[in-house]
Amino acid sequence: MRCLLFIALLAAATGCHQKMAIQPSYRPQSVSDFFSDGRTSRPPVAGTVARGQLAVRTDTVLYQGKDAKGALTAEFPFEVTSDVLKRGEQRYNVFCSVCHGLTGEGDGRIVKRGFTVPPSYSTDLSRSYKLKGEKILLTDVPVGHIYDVITRGYGAMPEHATQIPVNDRWAIVAYVRALQYSRSPALREKMGKEKSK
Ligand code: HEC
Repeated sequence: MRCLLFIALLAAATGCHQKMAIQPSYRPQSVSDFFSDGRTSRPPVAGTVARGQLAVRTDTVLYQGKDAKGALTAEFPFEVTSDVLKRGEQRYNVFCSVCHGLTGEGDGRIVKRGFTVPPSYSTDLSRSYKLKGEKILLTDVPVGHIYDVITRGYGAMPEHATQIPVNDRWAIVAYVRALQYSRSPALREKMGKEKSK
């Protein structure tokens, strides 16, 4: 008797589950007869700001590498201390060195196995600026450009926004600058810090 009751209960439970599974919910991106524009996915109400997204819009330098007018920033959003540089070095070695190499010359392991060869940070022109018709060495691009390339990727290089938090991206930019500084006499001279021998 108990066994029968158990089986009956089990059957009832499955029945219940089945009903819930076939309720008339929309599938993402499917067509709707209900809304006049025929879309099931509804656009957010005008002026909606998702939770946690307000700062992304207001602090454009930190989050987008651009000033309020949309120009790439030439300044770091926070002070570059030795701790920031150390963090940048560690993160660079994890995320970038596989392609760009430990010194930024574009000779990382993945490249040695056939991936597109990236430009050298210290001696090559920026390819993205070149596409726009400007010949600028990567040592001369604004820091916002390097931040933007990490965030959104460029050409064969994938984006890293999903893997690297904002502050770490800036720490990496600082370390890229340090690599450039250590390998480019022209940059050292420009920054006026080269010691006269
Ligand atoms: C999977 C390999 C790969 C990884 C990982 C990678 N890059 Fe790149 N990167 C490239 C390639 C390839 C290019 C050149 C893209 C092209 O020419 O299409 C490039 C280009 C660049 C450029 C130059 C853009 C320009 O204006 O020419 C910068 C700066 C840069 N990467 C920085 C970084 C930093 C910083 C990281 C780590 C967060 C990183 N990359 C991670 C492959 C990579």
